[in-house]
Amino acid sequence: MKTVVVSIGGSVVLSDEADALFLNKLTTLFKKISKEYKLFVIVGGGKIARRYIQLGRELGFDEDTLDLIGIDVTRVNARIITNLLGSSNKEIPHTTGEALKLDLPIVVMGGTDPKHSTDQVGAELAEKTQAVRFVNATNVDGIYDKDPNKYKDAKQLKEVSIDHLITQYGTKWGAAGKNIFMDEPALEIIQRAKVPTFIVNGKRLDQLEKALTGQSFDGTEILV
Ligand code: UTP
Repeated sequence: MKTVVVSIGGSVVLSDEADALFLNKLTTLFKKISKEYKLFVIVGGGKIARRYIQLGRELGFDEDTLDLIGIDVTRVNARIITNLLGSSNKEIPHTTGEALKLDLPIVVMGGTDPKHSTDQVGAELAEKTQAVRFVNATNVDGIYDKDPNKYKDAKQLKEVSIDHLITQYGTKWGAAGKNIFMDEPALEIIQRAKVPTFIVNGKRLDQLEKALTGQSFDGTEILV
């Protein structure tokens, strides 16, 4: 069975609008996908992680401690998702190595170590499993040519090369709680391992399903 890896932003799982109905629909989709593919789901920390990180920063905690706080929140979000799935792990793995040992249709996890986000965990798993697709389900419709929050004329890109993204964003981890479409260290893995990567709005479940199953979807493909 082929493998698909999905990194789902905490902002998708627990946004202001997201509710029990959305989470039930999301996990129903994951169950459907798992009939065709082995699925790894990596859950992000979202707003709650950033709120705690901000508090820790105000309290003078160092960057590694702030990252560890973020990781704890991703693991709580992962526990919510795994409890809705049934066919997945009960306990949340601490490392990608632990996750790879689990012989289950769906494996759910959160963050692992400081200095990156759950995007890197997803890229690592996609590399190690030679996944057919790595889907980053985030809270925007894709990658834009410039910051859509700052520029009204920002255009969504259908495709963009990994080399272009690395030139634009680099591969160095910024800071705890930093929120971009894909963390920079993950870009390096995608380039090295030539992981077929797709960015989609995770709140649009019809588009997420298309991205997960390799159909054309409204979002961005990263050309490797
Ligand atoms: P996320 O993966 O949620 O990052 O981890 P994010 O960019 O805020 O993504 P969204 O909003 O969920 O889409 C939250 C924070 O937890 C720490 C980092 O500080 C990250 O910014 N973290 C997470 C790690 O240090 N290591 C990990 O493996 C995962």
